[in-house]
Amino acid sequence: MSSLEIMKSPRSGLILVRSDGARIEVHPLWLRERCRAKSSYDMSSHQRLVDLSSLPADLAIADCRRLESGDVHVCFSDNHESRYDHAELLAEASRLPTDDCLPQAVAWTVTNRCLPQISLNPEQIQEGLRDVLALFFRHGFVVIRASGLNSPKLTAFAEQFGSVRTTQFGMYIDLETPGSAQQHSGHSPLFSAPHTDFPYRAPIPDVQMLHCLKNEATTEMSTVVDGMAVYQELKARHPAAFRTLTTTPVRFRFTDGHKTLVEWRPHVSIDSNGDFRAIHFSPGFDLAPLLPHPELDAYYNAKRLLVEMLRSPQFLVEFRLNDGDFLILNNRRMLHGGASFSPEEGYVHHQYCYIDLDGPRSVYRALVRCDD
Ligand SMILES: [Fe+2]
Repeated sequence: MSSLEIMKSPRSGLILVRSDGARIEVHPLWLRERCRAKSSYDMSSHQRLVDLSSLPADLAIADCRRLESGDVHVCFSDNHESRYDHAELLAEASRLPTDDCLPQAVAWTVTNRCLPQISLNPEQIQEGLRDVLALFFRHGFVVIRASGLNSPKLTAFAEQFGSVRTTQFGMYIDLETPGSAQQHSGHSPLFSAPHTDFPYRAPIPDVQMLHCLKNEATTEMSTVVDGMAVYQELKARHPAAFRTLTTTPVRFRFTDGHKTLVEWRPHVSIDSNGDFRAIHFSPGFDLAPLLPHPELDAYYNAKRLLVEMLRSPQFLVEFRLNDGDFLILNNRRMLHGGASFSPEEGYVHHQYCYIDLDGPRSVYRALVRCDD
């Protein structure tokens, strides 16, 4: 039996005492929420069967003890009895909000820039996908070199990671240069600069999956910028601009004469702790609200600073996609673009589509056998 000790807390809950002496107080309703008794939990659908709000608000732990097996036995004040695996209970009580089994995102700039790229071996495709996704979660993007892949179709490849999200352009976008490039936002002059896609949609398509079918242009390069690194720099060195860019609601708008898609959001989204959530930057589709003149001065100056940062060599990684290569990119975190090149240089053919972020997260958890 492990050295976990348990005791009733003065506030009617439970105290877990870890082997290192740390004491974790557990609320009785929190504990009941995790009850796996047949009357509390359906093991086939993994759903709780009890409405916690139907329990007494002053529910208390009436009794608790360790069983010989090591499990924790708890009797509640409403006479319900529960049994918990002590290791699972301790792990659950020690869990941090960031514990999600996923590799932690690492912001990168010129000082630690890298090109996360990988070749997939068809003989070890599961391990390969795990490594692809680990790079994707850490760096925000990953390049899959074509060697080893049997030229899968884009949407079939994307479906390995999650459901394909249809946009106003269909299941996927076909871009050929010269040819259709100006019709979409991928290769127009404004969009050769770093940008995010679809900030006017709600929800925003999370992950871009791009397939380079042909690249005969000698100088055609792809570029990416880590929006999380830009967020960190703004927050540390330009607090006033940071405040403006995280609080000014921008009207992102797309219309094709039939559909009009509009969403208000700041250029930089943060959570309640001030941590990075997303960056939204798409010149050509953004409109500032009519704020008082001094506030618009602040907004346009902050946006100018943001543009300078996004185009600075400090943040920009440039690489070439060759025939058959795939790019997977987090459209909430990363900005992407392409260096300008002359269509006379040669034929370029890209296809790209979008999936939701929960798809790759789920696939990764399955690959590392994490069902938390
Ligand atoms: Fe784009």
